[in-house]
Amino acid sequence: MGGTKFFSFLAVAMVLSLVHIQAQQGNWGDETVPYTMGPEKMTKLRFYFHDIVTGNNPTAVQIAQATGTNSSSTLFGALFMIDDPLTEGPDPNSRLVGRAQGFYGSAGQKEPALILGMSLVFTGNEKFNGSTISVLSRNPVTHTEREFAIVGGTGYFQFARGFISAKTYSLVGPNAVVEYNCTIVHPSSVSELGKSNSSPGKSDSSSGSQISLVSNLVFVSVIAYVTINLSLQHFSW
Ligand SMILES: *[C@@H]1O[C@H](CO)[C@@H](O)[C@H](O)[C@H]1NC(C)=O
Ligand SMILES: *[C@@H]1O[C@H](CO)[C@@H](O)[C@H](O)[C@H]1NC(C)=O
Ligand SMILES: *[C@@H]1O[C@H](CO)[C@@H](O)[C@H](O)[C@H]1NC(C)=O
Ligand SMILES: *[C@@H]1O[C@H](CO)[C@@H](O)[C@H](O)[C@H]1NC(C)=O
Repeated sequence: MGGTKFFSFLAVAMVLSLVHIQAQQGNWGDETVPYTMGPEKMTKLRFYFHDIVTGNNPTAVQIAQATGTNSSSTLFGALFMIDDPLTEGPDPNSRLVGRAQGFYGSAGQKEPALILGMSLVFTGNEKFNGSTISVLSRNPVTHTEREFAIVGGTGYFQFARGFISAKTYSLVGPNAVVEYNCTIVHPSSVSELGKSNSSPGKSDSSSGSQISLVSNLVFVSVIAYVTINLSLQHFSW
């Protein structure tokens, strides 16, 4: 009698375990839900980009080139990795507000033009600290005024888009100081429809996995406890 009860419990526990496992396997990619974006804000930033190619501490280094790069008038195929400081004023010793990290490559065969792929990470104040904007854009370096596309962002600038208006401030040999005016449009908040707002930059991306870890632990403990309890009640070893 007790044995029958125990085995029917075991059967139920096994079915529950299977359902639980299957529900978990379906978890990784089934979250496609309607959403709302809060009113968009526009943030304007103005700073100077320092690209230092020569000297003992270059912030831009060549990492690759093509066979024909040296004989190309535009150095087509040369690729540089950069970690360029961004400062408040044109003076390299003025306040550091962030860094431009990424690469640029010579992508024009007839006219000198770079392809810029970089993330600008801001550290200059508490509000933007650690937030980034992503730039992926053509840069026709010989033009006095250029414009780069902002294609995304993180932290305070989640879901950002916009543009940078750039103008060379000074050029000493290959070392350039460039004035950057950024116009960044980004939502004040993004949330699932019907759920309360979560403001960009404040979300905890690991909370989902923490919840499923806790639910797993609770599930396993309950099954283990009841199994042990029933074993002790109905069997004497
Ligand atoms: C290209 O020129 C640079 C410096 O002028 C030199 O160091 C390099 O070896 C040259 N590369 C080729 C493939 O000729
Ligand atoms: C930015 O964050 C870093 C690391 O979290 C911290 O050390 C630094 O003091 C912060 N800077 C500002 C301006 O808030
Ligand atoms: C940036 O904005 C300032 C102030 O509006 C303006 O004087 C300057 O010419 C602009 N620079 C660029 C590169 O757009
Ligand atoms: C098992 O559950 C019964 C009934 O709820 C309880 O009386 C008993 O103390 C439990 N046994 C153990 C070992 O926890």
